[in-house]
Amino acid sequence: MHSKTLLLQFAMEIARQAGDLIVHEREVAGLQHDYKGGKELVTQADLQADELICSAIRARYPDHEILSEESSPDAGRIWERVQYVWIVDPIDGTVNYAHGHNQSAISIACVVGGDVAVAVVFNPFTDEMFHALQGEGAFRNGKPIAVARETELSRAIIATGFPYVKEGLGPMIRRVEAVLTHCADIRRLGSAALDICFLAMGRLDGYYESLSVWDFAAARLIALEAGAECGHFSELPAGADPQFHNKDLLIANPRLYPKLLELLVAANQQQST
Ligand code: IPD
Ligand code: CA
Ligand code: CA
Repeated sequence: MHSKTLLLQFAMEIARQAGDLIVHEREVAGLQHDYKGGKELVTQADLQADELICSAIRARYPDHEILSEESSPDAGRIWERVQYVWIVDPIDGTVNYAHGHNQSAISIACVVGGDVAVAVVFNPFTDEMFHALQGEGAFRNGKPIAVARETELSRAIIATGFPYVKEGLGPMIRRVEAVLTHCADIRRLGSAALDICFLAMGRLDGYYESLSVWDFAAARLIALEAGAECGHFSELPAGADPQFHNKDLLIANPRLYPKLLELLVAANQQQST
């Protein structure tokens, strides 16, 4: 049995090392751009950060498994059969990163016995380290954080994101229309992990998007521990574990959550009529 505090310290250390690497690659070495599947931007820094994080995990914890966007994206639901699983996004916000924006982060979660128990999201450009341990609260640079108390949609700032694949945008645009009509404003900041951490500390009131598990595994625990309600605006398939279900995520402060849920469900119904 590994101490969760030690797992957290280790995750923070490797997130900082990967942070130094991605800053250096962009600011000193210079980036090489490539496109996964012809569409999805990836740089040498994504791959090098992935290698740094995964080799550090393998060296320290040889019996743990890894699900990482860049080196093992198809590992599947390994947490159902393995006690310790690390879920890694070496750079969340690659498009921002490659275009010189500073809204990007390293996201590392550790699943212990089937539950996301340790979470780290680190933005090296702003030196913001978000972390959480299951049941022990959420923190930004060591200080406790909590969700905002906004209760009115008309005053709420909602973040979302848009997929790389451009097919089937209609339903998504209807949701954006509903949110723009009823809420104060929308943000598309470009890093789902940071969007969710921003929500956790009250910089945003609501967030919704469909993602991959490495985008949100860590940030979701941080938001939960900060008092957010985390769910989905479409029905969960039978047997799906909400911690890992990636489609139609909805995260908000608990007062706003039911109102946003109603709005998004109505927008979804509109699309099928
Ligand atoms: C992306 C970011 C973005 C979200 C995309 C993700 P990446 O992750 O989180 O905000 O809208 O769906 O794929 O590709 O930069 O790791
Ligand atoms: Ca990502
Ligand atoms: Ca990524």
